[in-house]
This record gives sequence, structure tokens and C-alpha cells, in this order.
Amino acid sequence: MVTVIKPSLFLMSLWVLSSHEAQGSGKKLSWSHCSNPGTVALNYILFKPFPLKIGQRFQYIANLSTSDTIVDGTFHVKLWYQLNIAKQESINITFIDERINLCDQWVADSGHLCPVKPGNYIMTSAETIPTLFKPGNYFGKAEAFDEAGKILICARIKFSL
Ligand SMILES: *[C@@H]1O[C@H](CO)[C@@H](O)[C@H](O)[C@H]1NC(C)=O
Ligand SMILES: *[C@@H]1O[C@H](CO)[C@@H](O)[C@H](O)[C@H]1NC(C)=O
Repeated sequence: MVTVIKPSLFLMSLWVLSSHEAQGSGKKLSWSHCSNPGTVALNYILFKPFPLKIGQRFQYIANLSTSDTIVDGTFHVKLWYQLNIAKQESINITFIDERINLCDQWVADSGHLCPVKPGNYIMTSAETIPTLFKPGNYFGKAEAFDEAGKILICARIKFSL
């Protein structure tokens, strides 16, 4: 299991998760909220350029709303790579399993400080998909929790590179 990836890419996984079907043709990307959604809603997410490509720099732009004040918390992000072992047969290899601080990422990508007050915000950052990523299918799950452990947002993503 290789984990050589910047924290902000974990966040990218999170926001990717909350949109429905990504814009554009080419490689597919879809997301959904988990069955236990929290108080944070993602209104939209954009990727430029799309489709995402290994080794290529891209920007994400996410519009989200919170109805509660968020003092601090944690992101838990998991990413699986679908390894095809035979025709019609595959296993999911855990590629990333990380917990990161919510406010550090918030400050970096939104330009706002913690606590996060109720409102509508834009988060954006430019990232490069590491060349250690292999072509194929990826599945991700991202959850954010407040300091008390209450879920703020949970989403799943599916994309291919
Ligand atoms: C974010 O999305 C909300 C809801 O769709 C919209 O009302 C708001 O204008 C958007 N904000 C920005 C900066 O795009
Ligand atoms: C891999 O994970 C995806 C998404 O959770 C799931 O749909 C798929 O069935 C899994 N595949 C295997 C072989 O477990």
C-alpha cells in the first residue's frame, strides 16, 4: 500500500464524491452522498481540465453550504484501486486510508478561518495526480466529523484514470 500523496488530494477525493455525474465526456466520474448525510451540503463541484489524467495538474472548485458552525474536526478518506486479477474478477486494494485535520485544509482551500460559520463557501485548489497512480478504476469514501465525532458529510466516488 503506497501512501505518497498530499493531504489536499484527500480533500479532492471528498469533494469529488459529492457531485452526481461529472461534466464532460471521456473518462467517467460519479459520486453520491452516503446514506447518513451530515449538515454540510455540496452544491456543485467542477474540475478543470476534465477528464482527470495521471501526472496532470488540475483545479477543483467546490461550492458547499453548512447550516452549523464547525469549530474543528477530522477528515477520514479512503481510496481503493480495483485490481483486475482475471476476466470478470477483481479485488479492491486500499491505496489511501488517512485522517487529516479539517481546519488546516479549510484554511488552505477556502481562505477562511475556523470556526466555519453557517453559510455558503467556495473551496478551490490546484493539484497534480501523482504518477504512481495506475490507469484503471478507483473507488473512494470520504467522511468529515466534527470534534465530537458527529458526521458532517459523507460521500462516495467512483472514477477512472
Ligand atoms: C453556490 O451554490 C449556491 C446554491 O446553488 C448558490 O446560491 C450560490 O450562488 C453559489 N455560490 C457561488 C459563489 O457560486
Ligand atoms: C470494490 O468496491 C466497489 C465500491 O465500493 C464495489 O462496488 C465493488 O463491488 C468492490 N469489488 C470487490 C471485488 O470487492
